[in-house]
Amino acid sequence: MTDATSTLDNLMHEERAFAPSAEFAAAAIADASRYERAKADRLGYWAERAREVLTWDTDFAETLDWSGAPVAKWFVGGKVNAAYNALDRHVEAGNGERVAIHFEGATGDSTSYTYAELTTAVKQAANAFESLGLAKGDRVAIYLPMIPEAVITMLACARIGAVHSVVFGGFSADALRSRIDDAEAKLVVTADGTWRRGKPSSLKPAVDAALATPGHTVEHVVVVKRNGEPTDWNADLDKWWDDVVPTASGEHTPIAHDAEHPLFILYTSGTTGKPKGILHTTGGYLVQSAATHKDTFDLHPESDVFWCTADVGWVTGHSYVAYAPLINGATQVMFEGTPDSPHQGRWWEIVEKYKVSILYTAPTAIRTCMKWGREIPDGYDLSSLRVLGTVGEPINPEAWMWYRDVIGSNAGKNGEKKEHPAPIVDTWWQTETGSHMIAPLPGVTHTKPGSAQVAVPGVSIDIVDEMGESVGDGEGGYLVIRDPWPSMLRGIWGDPERFKETYWSRFDGMYFAGDGAKFDEDGDLWLLGRVDDVMNVSGHRLSTTEIESSLVAHEKVAEAAVVGAKDATTGEAVVAFVILRGGAEEGEDIVTELRNHVGRQIGPIAKPRHILVVPELPKTRSGKIMRRLLKDVAEGREAGDASTLADPSVMTRIAQDMRS
Ligand code: PRX
Repeated sequence: MTDATSTLDNLMHEERAFAPSAEFAAAAIADASRYERAKADRLGYWAERAREVLTWDTDFAETLDWSGAPVAKWFVGGKVNAAYNALDRHVEAGNGERVAIHFEGATGDSTSYTYAELTTAVKQAANAFESLGLAKGDRVAIYLPMIPEAVITMLACARIGAVHSVVFGGFSADALRSRIDDAEAKLVVTADGTWRRGKPSSLKPAVDAALATPGHTVEHVVVVKRNGEPTDWNADLDKWWDDVVPTASGEHTPIAHDAEHPLFILYTSGTTGKPKGILHTTGGYLVQSAATHKDTFDLHPESDVFWCTADVGWVTGHSYVAYAPLINGATQVMFEGTPDSPHQGRWWEIVEKYKVSILYTAPTAIRTCMKWGREIPDGYDLSSLRVLGTVGEPINPEAWMWYRDVIGSNAGKNGEKKEHPAPIVDTWWQTETGSHMIAPLPGVTHTKPGSAQVAVPGVSIDIVDEMGESVGDGEGGYLVIRDPWPSMLRGIWGDPERFKETYWSRFDGMYFAGDGAKFDEDGDLWLLGRVDDVMNVSGHRLSTTEIESSLVAHEKVAEAAVVGAKDATTGEAVVAFVILRGGAEEGEDIVTELRNHVGRQIGPIAKPRHILVVPELPKTRSGKIMRRLLKDVAEGREAGDASTLADPSVMTRIAQDMRS
């Protein structure tokens, strides 16, 4: 573990707190009785929520079976179909004409799907995939942009019982192939391309490159025609979506799956070079995602317009785009583009156009908008916004206050202010936790700028010291989860040992999250960043080790050390220190070559912002690289105590190089 001490020590004091308005509290979906009920009977609480948010084909007999810990079974004996719950039942209830998805394309094209239309589309996709030989339990890799077909494909898989593995479109062909191989995917669903910052960009060639070498398990590649980018065509594998999906029957009977049937795998970075395939199952995942979506955002499905800006390639786009909003029968916005294309008011234009009432985004985006200036959002009518969420990384109090004052207080483009700004809900959770774990209830909690507040009802969060003992209020420690929760991961795909080792071996009987945290004197929780070798760049998880492995795989690199350096906009930025092999030339060219190499191996998001070629790396006498010292230098500080280094003068030389 690196940097635990410095991470845990840093916390300022926050005096400001904002109570919900009386009107908001009076109309809120969740009141304080949720906490009381969950505290009195945690499992009884979850059983009630399970029956409230889902329609079970067969009711469950037991709420939790923890006898196989750390692999939980929730809602044992229950049978349920995710797609039926997200779609058909809303149509049956008479809400078929409600809009499920307002899709806003990158270039300004838009379409809307009602619940009835989306249900038919998913049934057609399910039929099409079945006719390509897909069956329950098979794995499907989804490599798509933020277009409705991504959600349609995910739900079609869930309907059949096939297990999807969405791979973010920003990952490279190599990263895609390793995920296809690990999950042994039979089907790949992709698109010809999309647009990035207004420019056409292709996706299909990455799939072609991924599948170019034999030995893979893929039988078919279904290609959505999105932007007409040219693509090679492999007649053995490729089929156009338009030739197989819209032509399929719109009738499809959902089969109820066991509550513990695998729903999806989502790869995420850990502390080693190999990404982990996080496995989620059906019942518990859907229950907690849907319950938290209702409570944290105060969702009123008949009137709210929900917009989560996350890509479906990340867990936020799974839980709060593809699943929970549809399970809850909400209307949501799905946006393919970026906030600055074609202009920096694009998001606010969308909020105004669809009268978005709940916005869920990442601190890095808020800080970027802050940098662009308040005049931009001030030029739009954002009065429809009534709840504002954040996720993915700690939000600094300045960004939190800006979100409240500029976005949450906007009562029209004429500069009018709301009397009661929209409450802000900061939500802490992880790919592994499946859904919100720490978050306020907007009608109950007095929110403080920068604090993620309290455990959601029915979740047991604690902060412990090195020995696993609870720390007192005001002291930093390690964030743990003491009891199983419904949407917890059920394992790492194909690697039960790593699952135990990563999350359950550090503290006896507790889930170790990898984050530092602190309760303040009011018992409100503050996240203090990762305490392991995981970085968080623009809310995206990256592993220092994975990038180091990629760098040393380059023929000109002898050794590499990667650190996350604090960055005012992206939270952290990747900084790499490399030692070249004898004979390799230093200079700009090698830096560009190495950045591109990492981009090719992992994806553009992992490209180091800075690469410094150094003659040596700071190592202890036992050979361990002291990343803490490199982080000091990368963040422009004097390097800390270097006395345990085998050669203490190394740091002086690196610091000089960094400055020059
Ligand atoms: O370090 C925490 C940070 O993001 C990590 C989880 O990343 P990922 O699995 O990619 O999921 C991100 C979206 C749920 C956590 O271990 N993190 C997430 N939300 C917050 C956060 N840090 C501080 N505050 C948050 N609200």
